[in-house]
Amino acid sequence: MQREELQAAIRELKREKNALILAHNYQVPEVQDVADVVGDSLALAQAAARSQAELIVFCGVHFMAETAAILCPDKRVLLPDLEAGCSLAESITAEQLRAWKAQHPGAVVVAYINTSAAVKAESDWVCTSANARKVIEAIPPEQEILFVPDMFLGAWLQAQTGRRMYLWLGECHVHAAMRPEDVHAALEQYPEAEFLIHPECGCMSSTLYSCAVGTLNGRKVTVASTDGMLRYVRQSPAEEFVIGTEVGLLYRLQQENPGKRFHALKPDAICPYMKRITLQGVLRSLQEEVYQVTVPEEIAQRARRALQRMLELV
Ligand code: 13P
Ligand code: SF4
Repeated sequence: MQREELQAAIRELKREKNALILAHNYQVPEVQDVADVVGDSLALAQAAARSQAELIVFCGVHFMAETAAILCPDKRVLLPDLEAGCSLAESITAEQLRAWKAQHPGAVVVAYINTSAAVKAESDWVCTSANARKVIEAIPPEQEILFVPDMFLGAWLQAQTGRRMYLWLGECHVHAAMRPEDVHAALEQYPEAEFLIHPECGCMSSTLYSCAVGTLNGRKVTVASTDGMLRYVRQSPAEEFVIGTEVGLLYRLQQENPGKRFHALKPDAICPYMKRITLQGVLRSLQEEVYQVTVPEEIAQRARRALQRMLELV
C-alpha cells in the first residue's frame, strides 16, 4: 500500500474502533500526520489521562505506552513495535534504585519520565523535561534529592535551582552524542541563528553556565523540552534556529513555521527506537490490536502516585 492508502486505512479503523493515536514529536512525519495528538512526554501523558477513547495506539517508545497504561487502567494501550525501547530508561533498574535509596534513607526520589514503570513505582515524583524545574522547586529545600536517570538534565536542574542533588549517571545515547564541538561548529556555520537545546544533550555539561545566562558566544540560547522549543519558536521574532535534539522535531517546526529556517545541531541525531514505528506497524496495531502494554497493578498503583503528583502540579 502507498503512504496515502495506509493513512486512509488507519484513519478509518481509528474511527471504527474509537481509538486515539498519540505520537511523540520524534516520530516520522507520515506517522505524525495520522496522530490525534503530537507532543512531548508531558503533553502525551496529559492527553492519555483525559482521553475518552477505548483504545490508545502509542506511537512512541515503551515507557510512554507504560505511562499511558498506568494513567488509563480502563483502556487498552497498544505499542506498534515492542522493540521501541529507550537507552535512557534502560540505564537504571528498580533494583539499582532500591539499593541507591538504601544508601540515602529519607531522600526524595525524582524520576524523569524516561524510566520503566518499576522505577517510577520506587519514586516519589515523576518529572518531564517540561516541568522538571517546577517539580524540584516543589520539594522542601532541606530534603535530599536523588535524581534518576539523566545526568545532563540533573546537572541542568542543579544549575537552575541551586539545589544540590545526587545524580544517577545515566544518559540517552542520542542526546549524549551532541557534544560541545557540535555547538562550536554550528555557531560558526550559522552565524545568525538562535540556539535551542534539549536538557538531555551531552553538550549541556560544558555550556551549563552559558545556557543558564541565556547567551552562548553572544548568541541567544534557550534550554527546552521538545514542546517548549515549539512554543518558543512560535513567539520568537528570530528567523533562523539551530535545534539541539532528535531530528524528528524539525518536521513539526518547519510545518508550523514555514517562513523560518531550522538546522539540526547534529543531523544524525536519530533515535532508532522512535523510528521503529511505521505506518504499516500502526495499521497492523489497529487491525490486530497488538501489542498491548500492561503494568501489574501493584507497580501501577505506586507509579501512578508519583505521576499524579506531577500532573497535579502542572
Ligand atoms: P520531551 O519530548 O519530553 O522533551 O522528551 C524528549 C525525549 O527524549 C523523549 O524520549
Ligand atoms: Fe530514549 Fe533518547 Fe530515544 Fe528519547 S531520544 S526515546 S531518551 S533513546
